[in-house]
Order: sequence, then structure tokens, then C-alpha cells
Amino acid sequence: MQNRTDPATPATILIFDSGVGGLTVFREVVRARPDARYVYVADDAGFPYGNQPEAALIARIVAVVGEAIAAHKPDLVVIACNTASVLALAQLRAAYQVPFVGTVPAIKPACAQSMSKRVAVLGTQATVSREYTRKLIDEFAGDCNVVLVGSPRLAGFAELELSGTPVPDADIKSEIAPCFGEGPPEHYTDTIVLACTHYPLLIDRFRAVQAWPVDWLDPAPAIARRVADLMRERPPGTVAERPRIFFTSGKAPNPALAGALAPYGF
Ligand code: DGL
Repeated sequence: MQNRTDPATPATILIFDSGVGGLTVFREVVRARPDARYVYVADDAGFPYGNQPEAALIARIVAVVGEAIAAHKPDLVVIACNTASVLALAQLRAAYQVPFVGTVPAIKPACAQSMSKRVAVLGTQATVSREYTRKLIDEFAGDCNVVLVGSPRLAGFAELELSGTPVPDADIKSEIAPCFGEGPPEHYTDTIVLACTHYPLLIDRFRAVQAWPVDWLDPAPAIARRVADLMRERPPGTVAERPRIFFTSGKAPNPALAGALAPYGF
């Protein structure tokens, strides 16, 4: 890995998202490499990414991630955000030398496991409308019918919940409703891809209002395996440090959010 030669020095892993959604990836990556130093950067000043025009968002992501790389000198960067990954992963790789691991909709495993051959991809409007996502469907959907569902509100709901503002069941139900198909049982959706890293934070809420039981597919364990694989030659570090979190707004988390961050070690 980049520019560190002392095998006892812990690797630094930078986790990036527009907000708190990347915590769902962070917790799995920490489980895979608990010995690394972690820096989490939340671009809350730019949140939400999902409803923004493409060109400005790419420029913003490349700039904010670039500043974080300059400040924290990571050995590896995890873009723990589907919207940023499908939009800007190529530009990030072109701009910076450090290895990147992205988060993209888990269409391949979802279609492979679906028995009903009907899968829904629940993401931000930006993620589901990108060419990158359509290519994943062309390449991996096979005989599966894939329904793309762009939610304008769910990432914001996850932010609200973590900051101590409860969101009514009815609001959550109406956002996930388009994922559930109609028709005879064999055409019912049986697998829903969580294509936004904020959504696993709401998984219990989804299960409470789902039209029928489905498998909600969270890509975080696969991302953690990818990180572990890229770092397999890096011996375990000797220093366990608390992870650090930075918000681009510069605002301190409110007490509810601080309480929600505590179990992650921040
Ligand atoms: N967590 C982000 C994702 O995975 C997006 C949330 C947003 O900023 O809209 O897509």
C-alpha cells in the first residue's frame, strides 16, 4: 500500500459519504480490519447528493475527497456512498493515486439469489438514473426483472432519525412502496437492493412496514471483504486508535447524533 514501509504502522483508512450513511459501511470495514486508523469524512455541507445536478456534484466530490486525502494521507479510501461512487469513482481514480473502494448497487448478487426473478433497486434518484447502474443491469440482471426505485426522501429520513427526529411509519412506507410489485405471487419482488448507504440505518423501519417479507440486500459486508483483500499483505498494525469523524459543515453533532455515533467509537 501507499508510502508506508514500517509494517507495524497501522494503515489509515478514509471513509467518505455525504452524511451518516457511510457508517453502515464503516462498521463492517472496522470488523474486517480493526487494527487500522479510521477517519470518517461526512460532507454534510453538501448533503443530500441524491437530488443534485451531475457536473457540480462530480466537481464537489473530487474536491472534498481531495482535501480529505491531503489532510489525512490515507492508505485506502472507501467511498461509502452509492451516489458518489456511480457518479465520480472514475474521476477520483484519475485524480488521486491512493486506492479506492466504491459502493455500487448490488445488482449481481440480488439477481443471482432472487427466486421470483423480480428485484428492486432502492437508491437515491441520482443513483438509479445513472448510466453506471443501467450497465450493471445489462451486465448482471440476466433473466431478472429489475425495478429501479429512486427515493427523494429516505436518506434525509435516516439523517433525521439519527439526529433524534423520528419519522412516521407512513412516510417510510410510501417511499418503499414502489419496490413491491403487483400480480401473481411468482412475480412478486423477493429481493430489494439497498443502493444507498443510508438505508441500512432504517432497516428495522423497512421491515416493520414492508408489504411482505423480502430480502433486503446490504452491500457493506462485500465492501469490507474487498477492503480486507486489498490490505491482505499489510500486517496488522500495533496501535488501536479511536476513529475520528469530520463534518464538512464544521458543525458539532447535536446530543442525539453524538449519542448515535458513540457505539461506533467516535
Ligand atoms: N449515502 C448516499 C448513497 O449511498 C447518498 C445520500 C445522499 O446524499 O443523497 O447514495
